[in-house]
Amino acid sequence: MPDTIFVLNGPNLNLLGLREPEIYGTDTLDDIAGMLEDRARELDLAIDMRQSNHEGHLVDWLHEAQARQAKAVLLNAGAYTHTSVALHDAIKSVVTPVIEVHLSNPHRRESFRHRSLVGQAARGTIAGFGALSYLLALEAAARL
Ligand code: DQA
Repeated sequence: MPDTIFVLNGPNLNLLGLREPEIYGTDTLDDIAGMLEDRARELDLAIDMRQSNHEGHLVDWLHEAQARQAKAVLLNAGAYTHTSVALHDAIKSVVTPVIEVHLSNPHRRESFRHRSLVGQAARGTIAGFGALSYLLALEAAARL
């Protein structure tokens, strides 16, 4: 059985490809899942990709990643990145390494995006490379 990497996506990321393409690009979440699965196969890893617009689902899935002994979690928490103490605490509550991922570089954007409660608990952060951010995070997760 290959090790599993959970890839958790937060609010509005279901609209990727349509949503503000000048910021987030034209790849859909399915495109990204396909790209990750191709690379995961080469690395002998499995991908479990999910998206929810609900904060509590992301908390539950972080707990599930630990219960299932996932190798790592790639987490793009969307706007919850900047607001969610619950996600911050959930990341700290599990031993599973969590890598924060963003398509855009929040530090180049509005000041309310400059603070990351996810990043303050995560193992590391990859941001600003569009869909490639996910692939780079997978490379990092594979080497943990
Ligand atoms: C995002 C950045 C967040 O600030 C924003 O709320 C998102 C997407 C990104 O991937 O660039 O929804 O997480």
